[in-house]
Amino acid sequence: MPTLGVNIDHVATIRQARQTVEPDPVAAAVLAELAGADGITVHLREDRRHIQERDVRILRQTVRTHLNLEMAPTDEMLAIALEIQPDYITLVPERREEVTTEGGLDVAGNLPQMREVVAELQGGGIPVSMFIDAEKAQIQACAQIKAQFIELHTGSYAGAEDEATRHKELTVLADGCKIAITTGLRVNAGHGLTYGNIYPVACLKGMEELNIGHTIVSRAVLVGMERAVREMKLAINGKF
Ligand code: PXP
Repeated sequence: MPTLGVNIDHVATIRQARQTVEPDPVAAAVLAELAGADGITVHLREDRRHIQERDVRILRQTVRTHLNLEMAPTDEMLAIALEIQPDYITLVPERREEVTTEGGLDVAGNLPQMREVVAELQGGGIPVSMFIDAEKAQIQACAQIKAQFIELHTGSYAGAEDEATRHKELTVLADGCKIAITTGLRVNAGHGLTYGNIYPVACLKGMEELNIGHTIVSRAVLVGMERAVREMKLAINGKF
């Protein structure tokens, strides 16, 4: 079954609501790892609305599993990433006015820019994952620029309002997985996944890592981070 990357952005969201020092996402990462998280994911946004540079720097020292840094493909972020050296980077699109990451990257439509960013990160020793919608053209573009991973955007699957639509969106993800693996890409997925909808995605052939944030932090507020992570590990394995 796929591994679990716990996205701790929203621990930082609570801290930033008061511009104070608690809760510390670094502490949340320690607890998530103790409970079985296979990786820690953070998104350093241009507007620094939750995760701060300080968090990424300390997490680089403290994370014992692997650190996945989500970031926009900008010069500022590139410089930070090359200095901090996360274990891998997930490139995401970013718009200041969005509540959360909305769509996938348009890799096919920005091939030269994307190729350059990926090459620069890989040249600095960092593997790169591209957060994209499960569309053939986008997947092929990621293979063309030699990204190692893609992260399939599961938002449409998670947001489906009825079973028929959910099933259709799952098929889109399954087809995306197949195309990606055939072209030599490794496949992760994330966005909007919950305890209730995770298992069918976890069962997709070739799926390697699921990056999950909001639902885990929401549950952690009520039952604690360790229990929330343990329960998600169970859900990925169809035992919750
Ligand atoms: N993967 C990517 C690329 C994301 O941008 C996000 C949201 O920050 C996630 C996964 C996690 O999404 P969620 O918080 O809905 O689980």
